[in-house]
Amino acid sequence: MKSIKKVLYPLTADSWSNEELNSINKVIKSNRFTMGPEVNKFEEAFSKHFKTKYSVMVNSGSSANLLMIASLFYLNKNKLKPGDEIIVPAVSWGTTYFPISQYGLKAVFVDISLNTLNIDENLVEKAITKKTKAIFVVNLLGNPVNFKKINQLANKYNLIVLEDNCESLGAMYKNKYTGTFGLMGSFSFFFSHHIQTIEGGMICTNNKNLYEIMISLRAHGWLRDLPKKNSILSKSGNSFKDSFKFVLPGYNLRPSEINGSIGLVQLKKVKSFLKQREKNAKIFKSLFDNLPYCSIQKENYKSSWFGFAIILKGKLANKRDKLIKILNEKKIETRPIVAGNFLINPVIKFINHRKSSSMKNANYIHKNGFFVGNDHRILKREILLLSKVMNEFAKNV
Ligand SMILES: Cc1ncc(COP(=O)(O)O)c(C=O)c1O
Repeated sequence: MKSIKKVLYPLTADSWSNEELNSINKVIKSNRFTMGPEVNKFEEAFSKHFKTKYSVMVNSGSSANLLMIASLFYLNKNKLKPGDEIIVPAVSWGTTYFPISQYGLKAVFVDISLNTLNIDENLVEKAITKKTKAIFVVNLLGNPVNFKKINQLANKYNLIVLEDNCESLGAMYKNKYTGTFGLMGSFSFFFSHHIQTIEGGMICTNNKNLYEIMISLRAHGWLRDLPKKNSILSKSGNSFKDSFKFVLPGYNLRPSEINGSIGLVQLKKVKSFLKQREKNAKIFKSLFDNLPYCSIQKENYKSSWFGFAIILKGKLANKRDKLIKILNEKKIETRPIVAGNFLINPVIKFINHRKSSSMKNANYIHKNGFFVGNDHRILKREILLLSKVMNEFAKNV
């Protein structure tokens, strides 16, 4: 019989209990599966929780990023146009970058800080040209960007700030939730994330025009879901005509009622999930901070600790592949730091971009970085196992 590998320290874990299953059953009994009241309720609860005016739920974090970029092309004032430049960090997920290029914009890559693993705010100013329209920051692995510096630059050069907050639900910078600093911020509710709705994503904004544009773009670009008086096109009042009128070149990015109903349940639990993630982080920091052979991600204000990043140095520099093999044998799951230096990924040949700095740090984490999981459960035993295996490896290497 084929042996089944039992993972001792997994990258992620299921955070559902009977309540989520009950919410799915409620949707099944209601016989309303397509986007409707459950999604609406979740959006309202999300806005209230994260203190934002508007929330738009979509079927993934990737769709949320796509909708943010797309919506900027239909603003009433100061629309984006092809050829405009958007500043991005060199380390993030593919779908942070793809919509930028797909809309004819140029992604301008800036190196990361080896401490926070976020965009190096000190390198951003050098990347700004007359064509720059936005800084698209990514709060990586739960860690907030330095919004004071980013906002100062955005104000000085009249730039939009966008946030990919897909890895950082619940993180805070100076008592304000990340994902609510930019003109828009995106969230993901995929399995490995802080809340899990099977698939799902959200965009938060305080801008009514953008909100209405996204409501239309999310569902075919039609007028139907907008109020009678709105910033795109007022309805005639004749629902036969209004319901089938297309006003923007949209998509179908709608979530289902099942995703919305699970979101409502998970949102009620998020505080306790985050508390446990933070407790695990304390254990992780106590064992891994200040070691001679590695550094860890330095928390900027309040991280929501998506996972625990480790960057090998000293005698373990350039020994990552050997270590990953051993961790794998010891049943500890690992991942690269998101996608490493994104500029090294083969897909980059299809992305309209330029580099604005050396990618020294992104290259370093590409070769020497990895991360292990964090979730809503007590992970003391798992983190201690990791520490033991790594200490032994460092002793014998
Ligand atoms: C930074 C970042 N942005 C966007 C996404 C996309 O989210 P989703 O998987 O929900 O499409 C991810 C996925 O993990 C991510 O890490």
